[in-house]
Formats: sequence, C-alpha cells, structure tokens
Amino acid sequence: MSTFHYASIRLVFYFEPYFRPFVNSMVILVTGGAGYIGSHTAVELLSQGHKVVVLDDLSNACEESLSRVERICNRKVHFVHGNVCDPNCLTSLFSRFKFDAVIHFAGCKAVGESVRKPLDYYHNNVTGSLFLLEAMKKFDVKKFVFSSSATIYGQKAPVPYVETLKTGGALNPYGSSKWMVEQILIDAAKADSELSVAMLRYFNPIGAHPSGLIGEDPLGVPNNLLPFIAQVAVGKREVLSVFGDDYETPDGTCIRDYLHVVDLAEGHVKALNWLMGHKGAEAFNLGTGTGFSVLDVVKAFEAASGVVIPYQVVSRRSGDLAVFWADATKAKAVLGWEAKRTLNDMMIDTWRWQSLNPNGYADT
Ligand code: NAD
Ligand code: UD1
Repeated sequence: MSTFHYASIRLVFYFEPYFRPFVNSMVILVTGGAGYIGSHTAVELLSQGHKVVVLDDLSNACEESLSRVERICNRKVHFVHGNVCDPNCLTSLFSRFKFDAVIHFAGCKAVGESVRKPLDYYHNNVTGSLFLLEAMKKFDVKKFVFSSSATIYGQKAPVPYVETLKTGGALNPYGSSKWMVEQILIDAAKADSELSVAMLRYFNPIGAHPSGLIGEDPLGVPNNLLPFIAQVAVGKREVLSVFGDDYETPDGTCIRDYLHVVDLAEGHVKALNWLMGHKGAEAFNLGTGTGFSVLDVVKAFEAASGVVIPYQVVSRRSGDLAVFWADATKAKAVLGWEAKRTLNDMMIDTWRWQSLNPNGYADT
C-alpha cells in the first residue's frame, strides 16, 4: 500500500491520474475508506477494476484494514492520511488525481456522542462535506455518492420507509447532520445541472467480508447490536443488554432492517454506474425490506456460531424507535440493486471475522 501524508503526494503520484489499469475503469476518491463500510466498498471497487484513492484521518480506523483490502483483491489502494475538513489537503489531493467520482463515507457516527459533542459532529459531518463539494466544484468533479442514513426519516415516519416520505426531525445531532447534508446536496444539484448525486440511506449494515479479513472494529464499548453480540461470543463482554422487551412487536424487542455490508458495498458500485448516465440528486434506501427483532438476531447468531449469548433485558435506550425497515423497491428498479445475502449469511460472516480477529485489527 502507498501511504503518504497529503503534502508528499505531489512527486510520487505525478503520473497517477493517467494510470487506468482496466478498460472503463475509473479513479474513485473514497473518503473514510479505511472504516467499516468504506473498506468493504473499496474491495468491490477494486474488483470491478477501478482505481481507489482513500482519504482517511484514521480517527476511527487503522491502515491495517487497507492492507487487508489489498490482500483480498491483490491490487493496490492509494492511501492518503488526511482530513476532509482541511481544504489545503483537499486541494493538494484533487490537484494530483483526476477523480471520476467521490464516495463520501468520512464522518462521525456515534449517536450518543453526537448529543454530547454537537459542534464536533456538525463540523466533521456538515463542514467536511461542504469542503469536499467545494473541492469537487473547483476541480470539475461531478459525481458524488453520499453515506446517508435511515435516521433522516425522523421519529414519526410510517413503516416501511419509502424515499418519497418527508424527511427531517431526527432526535440527535448525528441524524440532523445527515439530513442537513442531504439538503445541501439537493440545492447544489439544482444549481449545477452537471452534478449527479446519489444519497444512499443505509438501514442497519452488519456482517463482514466472507474472507474474514475485514469487518467492523469499533473502538471501546460497541454502541451497536451486532458488534456487541460478537464481542460477547468471544468472551470480551460478559452479557448482552437487550434494550427493552415491552415494545409493540411480536417478542417485545425492537425490529430493524439488517443488511449485509457486502450487499451494501455492492450498492455503491451500482450507484456509481447509475450516476454516469444521470444528473441531479436522488435518494435511495439500501435495506433488505425485511425486519428482524433483537431476539431474532441473538437466536440467528447462536445458530450460526454454536455459541450461547447470555443476555439480560434492561430498560429501553433513549431515542430508539420500536420498528423500522426499508421499502427498497426504488433501488431495485432504478439502480438494479437488491440485497442478496440472508440473516444467516450476516451471522456466519460476523462470526468468522470476530473469531479470527477477537481484538479486531489490533490482533495484527
Ligand atoms: P467508520 O467510522 O468505520 O468509517 C468512517 C471513516 O471515516 C473512519 O475510517 C474514520 O477514520 C474516517 N473519518 C472520520 N472523520 C474523518 C475526516 N474528517 N476526514 C477523514 N476521514 C475521516 O463508519 P462506517 O460504519 O464505515 O460508516 C461510514 C459512513 O456511513 C459514515 O458517514 C456513517 O455516518 C454512515 N452510516 C453508517 C451506518 C452504520 O451503521 N455503520 C449507518 C448509516 C450511515
Ligand atoms: C443506530 C443509530 C442510528 C444509525 C444506525 C445505523 C442509535 C440510537 N441509532 O440505529 O442513528 O443510523 O445505528 O446502523 O444509536 N440493542 C440492544 N443492545 C445493544 C445494542 C443495541 O438491545 O447493546 C438494540 C437496540 O435497542 C435496537 C437494535 O438493537 O433496537 C439495533 O441497535 P443498533 O445496532 O444500535 O442500531 P439502531 O438503533 O437501529
């Protein structure tokens, strides 16, 4: 892997913009590409023959994930250690590479932390996106894929969530920051008829690459369900807390639309292909269209791993909705994308990743 601080890339990559290894291959900037979804998307992009340049400040990831991406694909990732909130870094980067498109994953994503540090979240998620869009404008890059979230449907939307629903009203700064960026993108695309934007609203991505080489590696105590279960399974945590069993659902626990991260990564490739022939900003739900409860997931993990997951029911987590899942028909009709992998696939791949890497990338 080539690792450079942005200031040093001028000399080394002088000829890189002209290096395109496959016919129809593109040069894609993947911000946040060392992270969970970004690393899986990098695998799919490389395996389609695209050249991948990752910009990541490593605030929530490590370079090892990119070495593993290279092992899976037997191809190089061009890594630039830098921050999307640093306009000089972006200018330097965009001067060196002629990007065909940008996929923007970089951002902070912990809901609870966003309530404690709203300014940090708005700065990183909103200002970072603005700086990136300004750099794209300056360097005439017109294709943009944005990591949005089901959380932008707010607290009162009826299920299943469909793209035509009114958005907004998120309960926390993280959700509001995603909604704000969507509004910025819609306005930017209205003002520039050449701009094409796909706003991908992820539901609950889980799982890992089937190689077991890359997966989700949260810092500290996991906030999300699957990483917590996986850490209980390898003995790093004693017991799973199930946040409430008194919801109006068949077993009383919350229902979510879990999708395999490799399906999600493939959705980005489909969105990129779609962008090449379209203008304007469009939102797409990326989910399976099926919901599972917390206890369904616990049972599925136990069945896939053969490990019993001790759990205790505790009180509800503030801000949790009882149920939501995607209406994913637009992504199928327009992008030609649909999730293919089952809940069992998600569990098997999570377990393979966690059991091979009990301490995540730190085991390297
Ligand atoms: P992640 O934390 O694993 O990846 C984000 C990456 O961005 C990390 O590698 C981090 O180091 C990097 N980063 C953060 N701020 C940066 C900055 N200012 N400059 C450069 N790099 C920066 O998270 P993920 O789960 O892969 O999520 C990727 C994106 O998808 C995020 O924008 C997140 O909000 C969004 N999203 C995630 C989920 C989910 O459940 N994981 C759901 C909906 C939306
Ligand atoms: C969370 C975020 C949401 C984000 C989404 C992306 C919150 C409040 N919401 O959604 O903004 O878009 O991730 O995937 O953080 N659960 C437990 N015990 C645990 C962890 C979770 O019972 O230790 C339950 C939760 O109550 C929820 C379900 O598992 O019902 C899924 O939780 P989680 O993985 O955190 O995802 P979301 O809450 O859907």
